[in-house]
Amino acid sequence: MYKLFLQPLLFLLDAEKAHHVTFSLVKFIHFLPGVGGLLRAVYRVEDKSLERELFGIKFPNPVGLAAGFDKDARLFNELYNFGFGFIEIGTLTPRPQGGNPKKRLFRLKKDQALVNRMGFNNGGVQAAAKRLKRKNAGIIVGGNIGKNKDTPNEEAANDYLACFKTLYDVVDYFVVNVSSPNTPNLRELQEKEPLKKLLSRLMELNAEYLVSKPILLKIAPDLNFDQLDDIVEIVTETKIAGVIATNTTISREGLQTSGSELEAIGAGGLSGKPVRESSTRVIKYLAEKSGKSFPIIGVGGVHSAADAIEKLEAGADLVQVYTGFIYEGPALLRQINKALIQRNRVN
Ligand code: FNR
Repeated sequence: MYKLFLQPLLFLLDAEKAHHVTFSLVKFIHFLPGVGGLLRAVYRVEDKSLERELFGIKFPNPVGLAAGFDKDARLFNELYNFGFGFIEIGTLTPRPQGGNPKKRLFRLKKDQALVNRMGFNNGGVQAAAKRLKRKNAGIIVGGNIGKNKDTPNEEAANDYLACFKTLYDVVDYFVVNVSSPNTPNLRELQEKEPLKKLLSRLMELNAEYLVSKPILLKIAPDLNFDQLDDIVEIVTETKIAGVIATNTTISREGLQTSGSELEAIGAGGLSGKPVRESSTRVIKYLAEKSGKSFPIIGVGGVHSAADAIEKLEAGADLVQVYTGFIYEGPALLRQINKALIQRNRVN
């Protein structure tokens, strides 16, 4: 139904506008009595074989919503009804910020992809924390955290620490985002020494709590093998809970979209089908190099059950979707979960 009717209508609108219309629509239908239950009955697939236990959290199924869709934690309760096993909110920053000037989100239909340079537009971590207090029981939410654009990299750790403290009570796990291409110089924090320092400080803060929370690191698909070796070393040394691989890419290789269209779109992170391969390559390398010594959440170009299985077989423990959800709709989650049940039966 989504792919036949709703997606073509939404795709007539500007991509960011379509995002807001979708939010209003999902909110609106949930005011109608019985709709939440109906959606759960249609889309949620419950099966013991889908459950996963990782870093002390029990996930009902391994397919989550990637960061950036529900940045401000406005729709997590409703989105859960569409079948997600977990929902990642953010990236949030300590202070609210507007992000980059519009237009900043583009569809590459020929490639089933998106380019975005949103730039961490968000209403600030405090407002989101307040909304997260209304989280329904049983919904697993990850808090993806970043730094404000005007915070220099030397002071970035303070921003991550502030977000951690504000969200501690209301999220189940944390994601340290140092891999967005849309905040100037942010990706420099992925370098060995600054990253080790940042994660160590977060882990020190984490240890001050009676119960510490899992902290994961989200990395770019554009890291080379030497840089990935550093990531394995840093994860092992700092003892963080795991890695999310990957964010969007700055590469524009192998696209169907013409060079002139790409030029008109300009800078930003590319997501969707074209990032599938590089993201899987990163997952596979990390899993092999580390001897699977830490959990990996695989994300990037999952548009079908086969894509999700590819990530799991490469070494991911869970997967996330964003662009695939825009192109395929909520049926994608059901398809993946059904295929995973089938796969479990066969294996
Ligand atoms: C994103 N992504 C993202 N990631 C993140 O860690 N923080 C963020 O704020 C955002 N924002 C964001 C906005 C938009 C419009 C898109 C398309 C993506 C990246 C996202 O979580 C994911 O890592 C990549 O998009 C790759 O997965 P898909 O989209 O190919 O499934």
